[in-house]
Amino acid sequence: DWNSGNVIEEQVARIREQVGSARVISALSGGVDSAVSTALVHRAVGDQLTAVFVDHGLLRQGEREQVEKDYVESTGVRLITVDAADTFLGHLAGVTDPEEKRKIIGREFIRAFEKVQRELVDEAKAEGEPIKFLVQGTLYPDVVESGGGAGTANIKSHHNVGGLPDDLDFELIEPLRTLFKDEVRAIGRELGIPEAIVGRQPFPGPGLGIRIIGEVTRERLEILRDADAIAREELTKAGLDGEIWQCPVVLLADVRSVGVQGDGRTYGHPIVLRPVSSEDAMTADWTRLPYDVLSKISNRITNEVREVNRVVLDVTSKPPGTIEWE
Ligand code: XMP
Repeated sequence: DWNSGNVIEEQVARIREQVGSARVISALSGGVDSAVSTALVHRAVGDQLTAVFVDHGLLRQGEREQVEKDYVESTGVRLITVDAADTFLGHLAGVTDPEEKRKIIGREFIRAFEKVQRELVDEAKAEGEPIKFLVQGTLYPDVVESGGGAGTANIKSHHNVGGLPDDLDFELIEPLRTLFKDEVRAIGRELGIPEAIVGRQPFPGPGLGIRIIGEVTRERLEILRDADAIAREELTKAGLDGEIWQCPVVLLADVRSVGVQGDGRTYGHPIVLRPVSSEDAMTADWTRLPYDVLSKISNRITNEVREVNRVVLDVTSKPPGTIEWE
């Protein structure tokens, strides 16, 4: 019968055999799947593995630290962080079309990863032990799923590094290929990965870039990051993480409305809360959050985030609405 300890032992043995003395690289996204597959491979081959984390500047509050500090401390993985925020935001300047944003983010992600990859390959060659393997956090549903649904194709193109340069010939290591998400989480816990990562709800590859409706700028990212952190904190405090699939927080950056605060008129932006319940993200319903929790989130966001003067609730199911707004 299924037991996370056995799966780990089995996979570790298999990975060791597959890899031998070669080197391995892995892309960490901050999400569960890449965190667990990377930790498994590290358990098997230690410092023959280098993990790469691209900070595209579209992350939520605390996510980079979670990877750089908590994840590294708990696993001992050798990590390279690529500071790519300037590049990403540069290319996103002036862009408002959702598909164009996604394309740019996907392309720049591959570029950033490729660059480090080449450096690592050169370094390894110089040391006489070339990199032959790339880790991917592919799960069983990813293997089975043949597409369909608006988000699915995009999940693939961002999640599974994809688009590798032709002249770099890697063999893939996919230790989670036969597993479901809850099994992956169990393995992650067994490997000692922090709960904040193992229990994390889905977050799209393009990050906050597709949760700002309008142009993505540093200033707008700050606003959204603050509002999102408050919403997440209150949902966790209320014990609702298990009940919701995810809760995108969206900034309507090109919309302004009039408000009043203290004895002054305000002219600020609305924030949308999009809590959803779902089994697999293919369909979803809006989560009936308790009014007192909604009220607390709304009060805190409008009090603590100066540029926001209104909080609205998205009560659309999927279909017809998608989970993300872009
Ligand atoms: P939608 O908005 O299509 O989202 O209902 C379905 C699920 O997929 C996530 N999502 C993405 N995940 N890269 C990802 O890794 C993407 O480009 C992407 N787009 C949407 C979304 O958060 C939801 O869980």
